[in-house]
Amino acid sequence: MERKRGRFFVFVRARPPPTSFFLFLLVILSSAGLSASQFGTPTAEFDTDRLALLSFKTLVSDPSGALVSWGNSSLHFCRWRGVNCRNHDGEPRVTALVLESLRLKGKLSPSLANLTFLRRLRLGNNSLEGSIPQELGFLSRLRSLDLSYNHLGGMIPTSLLQNCSELRIFSLSHNNLNGTIPRNLSNCLYLRVIDLGRNTLEGNIPSDIGSLPKLETVSIWDNLLEGSIPPEIGKLASLTGLHMRFNHLDGPIPAAIGNLSSLTQLDLSNNLLAGAIPAEIWNLTSLRGLLLWNNRLTGAIPSDIGNLVGLDRLLLSSNEFTGTIPPEIGKLEKVSAVFLHNNNLVGTIPNTLWSLRNLDALLLRHNHLEAKNAAEWTQHFLDALTNCTRLRILDLSINHLSDVLPKSVANLSKTLQWLKIHDNQIAGSIPTEIGNLSNLTVITMSSNLVDATIPAALGSLRRLI
Ligand SMILES: *[C@@H]1O[C@H](CO)[C@@H](O)[C@H](O)[C@H]1NC(C)=O
Ligand SMILES: *[C@@H]1O[C@H](CO)[C@@H](O)[C@H](O)[C@H]1NC(C)=O
Ligand SMILES: *[C@@H]1O[C@H](CO)[C@@H](O)[C@H](O)[C@H]1NC(C)=O
Ligand SMILES: *[C@@H]1O[C@H](CO)[C@@H](O)[C@H](O)[C@H]1NC(C)=O
Ligand SMILES: *[C@@H]1O[C@H](CO)[C@@H](O)[C@H](O)[C@H]1NC(C)=O
Ligand SMILES: *[C@@H]1O[C@H](CO)[C@@H](O)[C@H](O)[C@H]1NC(C)=O
Ligand SMILES: *[C@@H]1O[C@H](CO)[C@@H](O)[C@H](O)[C@H]1NC(C)=O
Ligand SMILES: *[C@@H]1O[C@H](CO)[C@@H](O)[C@H](O)[C@H]1NC(C)=O
Ligand SMILES: *[C@@H]1O[C@H](CO)[C@@H](O)[C@H](O)[C@H]1NC(C)=O
Ligand SMILES: *[C@@H]1O[C@H](CO)[C@@H](O)[C@H](O)[C@H]1NC(C)=O
Ligand SMILES: *[C@@H]1O[C@H](CO)[C@@H](O)[C@H](O)[C@H]1NC(C)=O
Ligand SMILES: *[C@@H]1O[C@H](CO)[C@@H](O)[C@H](O)[C@H]1NC(C)=O
Repeated sequence: MERKRGRFFVFVRARPPPTSFFLFLLVILSSAGLSASQFGTPTAEFDTDRLALLSFKTLVSDPSGALVSWGNSSLHFCRWRGVNCRNHDGEPRVTALVLESLRLKGKLSPSLANLTFLRRLRLGNNSLEGSIPQELGFLSRLRSLDLSYNHLGGMIPTSLLQNCSELRIFSLSHNNLNGTIPRNLSNCLYLRVIDLGRNTLEGNIPSDIGSLPKLETVSIWDNLLEGSIPPEIGKLASLTGLHMRFNHLDGPIPAAIGNLSSLTQLDLSNNLLAGAIPAEIWNLTSLRGLLLWNNRLTGAIPSDIGNLVGLDRLLLSSNEFTGTIPPEIGKLEKVSAVFLHNNNLVGTIPNTLWSLRNLDALLLRHNHLEAKNAAEWTQHFLDALTNCTRLRILDLSINHLSDVLPKSVANLSKTLQWLKIHDNQIAGSIPTEIGNLSNLTVITMSSNLVDATIPAALGSLRRLI
């Protein structure tokens, strides 16, 4: 009876859907007449899964003893750590192998391909090395493949994406994979997540990526990818995250990206992209992160930026943007980081910036911005106190700010940690009120017209480094 109960346990965990319920009953009834030893002497097909698991184990070392249950002959393999089963034709078959963050070291056994009922293979954050066996392409029922955070090398086997009609999650990030992103992605109709970030993949982004209707996340950042961003990306109606930073992508930002109305994160930073930001981008009202820093992008920041009311991070630094900072930036109520440094922006800093009460970091360094007189300064700082109560970092250095630094500097938020105003044309002496900013750790004022005398008040800034 013990063994039958063991078998029953497997069924219960599998939670069969209603359609398989009668099969389930049938097996229970028929098994009542079988000998107790049936569980221990499996059919050949049944034993395939056990042998495949054992073969997997022989290639990995297990310094933390995570697989100790795998060596226990009195424990059915469906109860080994990380193994899940479900019954098929009356036999328990492995449907999931989940062994994440267990410090497993070694190679991936091609015998995993014999776990033909496998749906989830999740071995992320271990020390697996060698290449990904192309035999894994045999796993046609696979829904989730996560081998991220390992030391896997070599190419991504094209076989993985030929048998992928069930695949939802394809995560190989944080490895040493090289070669190109496999073509023929169009077979993977249910694919929701492609995560290949932080590898050394090269070549172009395949344009058939646009034929995956369910795709929600494309994460291919920190690789060696080149060529232009295929406009076909604009067909991915479900896309919420597009992460491509740190590659060698060139050409323009495709206007078609403006069709991705669900997009919340657009990160194309640190590439070789050029030209203006297409007008369509400013219609992406779901955006929370717009990260385009360090390309060679030109043109002005339009007033339409005010459409992006959900924006949390606006990182446009280190480009060649020109024109003024549009006052509509004040509509981005949720924004916490505004990085516009290293551009060619002109004009005054719009007062509306200071109505951004969630602002944490404002970097305007190295532009041609000006504050023409002390009254203008006063207004900025005064409003900063009343409304930007979370500001920690303010960098206005290397601009054309002039006149004296007003006493209202004391009215900056007490949260302020960095105040950088060096390389401007600020005259007069440093107001003693600066001593009120008790949390300041960094203050830079060099290369101005300021009096050399350092006010004693600076001595009260205990955190200054
Ligand atoms: C093997 O598994 C059985 C049943 O769970 C358990 O009682 C026994 O202690 C295990 N043996 C070892 C060596 O872990
Ligand atoms: C990886 O696993 C280690 C424990 O082995 C854990 O401390 C760490 O947070 C994990 N990292 C990730 C990214 O999951
Ligand atoms: C799969 O199982 C069959 C039959 O047990 C065996 O001959 C074959 O070598 C296995 N394949 C792999 C890749 O281990
Ligand atoms: C796809 O899977 C089926 C069934 O598992 C297998 O027969 C076929 O060889 C696989 N194709 C590839 C390209 O691996
Ligand atoms: C890819 O990686 C493998 C193993 O890490 C290496 O042998 C091979 O030379 C690499 N290929 C390229 C094109 O870098
Ligand atoms: C993969 O794509 C190439 C060229 O795009 C095509 O010739 C080939 O038939 C495709 N293979 C499969 C399995 O779809
Ligand atoms: C956006 O989608 C519409 C409708 O599908 C299409 O007509 C238009 O050409 C697309 N825009 C771009 C820039 O691809
Ligand atoms: C942005 O959206 C508005 C309203 O839906 C539409 O009229 C306008 O043409 C769009 N602009 C672009 C550049 O797609
Ligand atoms: C600061 O907030 C107050 C209250 O919401 C508002 O009336 C004022 O206009 C804001 N200041 C600026 C410069 O936007
Ligand atoms: C600081 O702000 C307060 C009101 O918030 C104002 O009364 C005071 O004059 C300001 N201080 C300076 C030095 O501008
Ligand atoms: C000053 O900094 C400390 C440590 O970063 C922080 O806990 C504290 O809240 C800050 N004070 C203010 C007024 O922001
Ligand atoms: C600045 O500190 C002085 C005392 O050190 C205090 O009298 C003054 O009210 C403070 N000013 C502000 C704006 O906090």
